[in-house]
Amino acid sequence: MTSGELKKQFIKFFVERGHKRIPNSSLIPENDPSALFINSGMHPLVRFLLGEPHPLGRRLVNYQRAVRTGDIDEVGEKNSRHLTFFEMLGEWSLGDYGKKESLTWTFEFLTQVLNLDPYRLYVTVYKGDDVIPKDDESIKIWQDIFSKFGIEAKVGESFTVGPDAPRIILLGEDNFWAVGNVGPCGPTSEVFYDKGYGENPDNRFLELVNNVFMYYNRTKEGRLEELNQKNIDVGWGLERILSIIHNLDQNGNVLDVNSVFETDVFIDQRNWLINKWGKSEFEYLNDGSVRKAIRVVLDHIRASVMIISDGVEPSNKDQGYVLRRLIRRAVTYGWKFSAGSSDYLIDLGSMCIDRLAQDEEYTFILNNKHRTLSVLENEVNKFEKVLSQGVRELNKVNDNIISGELAFRLKESLGLPIEITLEIAASQGKEVDIEKYNLLMQEHQIKSKIGAEKKFAGGLGDYSDISICYHTCAHLLLAGSKMLLRKDVHQKGQNITSERLRYDIGYPDKLTEEQIHLLEDWVNEQIVRDLKVDFIETTFAKAKEYGVEGMFIDKYEALEIVKIYRIYPKELNVHPTDLVFEDKDKYVSLEFCGGPHVNHTSEISKFGRFKIIKEESAGQGVRRIKAVLV
Ligand code: ALA
Repeated sequence: MTSGELKKQFIKFFVERGHKRIPNSSLIPENDPSALFINSGMHPLVRFLLGEPHPLGRRLVNYQRAVRTGDIDEVGEKNSRHLTFFEMLGEWSLGDYGKKESLTWTFEFLTQVLNLDPYRLYVTVYKGDDVIPKDDESIKIWQDIFSKFGIEAKVGESFTVGPDAPRIILLGEDNFWAVGNVGPCGPTSEVFYDKGYGENPDNRFLELVNNVFMYYNRTKEGRLEELNQKNIDVGWGLERILSIIHNLDQNGNVLDVNSVFETDVFIDQRNWLINKWGKSEFEYLNDGSVRKAIRVVLDHIRASVMIISDGVEPSNKDQGYVLRRLIRRAVTYGWKFSAGSSDYLIDLGSMCIDRLAQDEEYTFILNNKHRTLSVLENEVNKFEKVLSQGVRELNKVNDNIISGELAFRLKESLGLPIEITLEIAASQGKEVDIEKYNLLMQEHQIKSKIGAEKKFAGGLGDYSDISICYHTCAHLLLAGSKMLLRKDVHQKGQNITSERLRYDIGYPDKLTEEQIHLLEDWVNEQIVRDLKVDFIETTFAKAKEYGVEGMFIDKYEALEIVKIYRIYPKELNVHPTDLVFEDKDKYVSLEFCGGPHVNHTSEISKFGRFKIIKEESAGQGVRRIKAVLV
């Protein structure tokens, strides 16, 4: 079944069950300043989920284009299910039918239309919390559904493998869905496919469909209110489903190196690119770096042409910045395989447009094809110039370490982002002295007195609006960790992109779910409190004595004057230019830092709520926290 056939079958199935087809909306949200891109099928339907009558009735169906960049690092990994641009099949009950119909149809579509083996299907159900009860109704419905196939559906707390594995898994926050920090939301029940190999449940079980019981609305203050209209929002990942049904062997197992790229959505462009780079299928399958590069380029160029077609141009903010990052990442990943010329990306963009336009919903992108490709080409050319000069400089280095001075010079004179220097260095098996680089950036900001704009630039690899917000979140996260975990927690590392914050803290134990929640809530509270963020300049000795927090504190010693960022309630008067004893308890956070930061913490909320998506070890005594604003 091709992607086109799957879409047709899907629409037909739900139209036969009383749903009306609605169109696929632009990727750029209308009237929603809190989001950069449409990220799901329900996103354009928020007002109807909140109760406004939809002109086509209470049962709707469509497929919707969407962009999510939270997992951009995962794109292209071995069994990759992540794409930045993807399509979601969806159906909705706007206060009409209930869980029974929804879950039954979900299972019917999976087993009767897609012909998936019911024994391979596992489901998750919301385990309940202080406000929302455990979803016993869904458990009962699933047990009835499975029993028709002679499957006794045991209930458990986690995915396991083996004869006693539970069929219904109760989960907490993973089974709660919301489009952003306010609006319709609710507990979910998801269906997973068991690919049949591997012990790691994360890779073995692939989520195919998400039934959200949108019975709640989250208010601006963060409270959950029950909606009068009990909605159901179901989303199916089109490319993921194809990655299963296109890659099954006779026993129902999924081939080892399978992914969303091994589907009709990508296969022609994929084969073309393998060939273009002079690689073989064997190399693609067996060499992780070739495979990742090919997949990243495919994903990012497809996403870029769609985003441009929806009217966006590369820039340094908002959607334009995401687009710029995608194009630059594609150029960078492809660089070493394409003999330093990125012209092929324009041909690939053209192929992606033609492929997408095979779908009747996307024929409009053909009308814009000329413009889309010239926007792409312009950005590629601009960046290529920067990159080739940077590579020339980095190639000259006869050492395994790229000095902080060189990285700094490339940034200052060429505008070569530090992330790119890191990527090029890694591809050459070299390391970058990032501490020195950060120090030089800091020094530079302090010395440079030419205008506030210039002064704020730096410290961060990029300074798009969202990266700046992540940067301030990093300070809040550290302050919260000191308060909620242990007073002597310190920063051990940090990496910020426009997609997420990665932050390492020195702490001996794995954080519990409760600690994670507490930290998230605390940071969100500080955002809502609208704290003031500013900086002062003072001597190193004074800042150290005052107890200001900083990661490479002794490195700052070399500087005469250091910059200290302060976060504090705006109604408290603190000394405008100095650290004085009377103010000590007024500060929420004080850190040695080059900036930039927001001026008021409430600015962060335009990108959503602070959410920790991963917590893991990053070496002995170090915990790595990945967080996003959603
Ligand atoms: N809105 C739900 C999701 O995107 C279905 O997963």
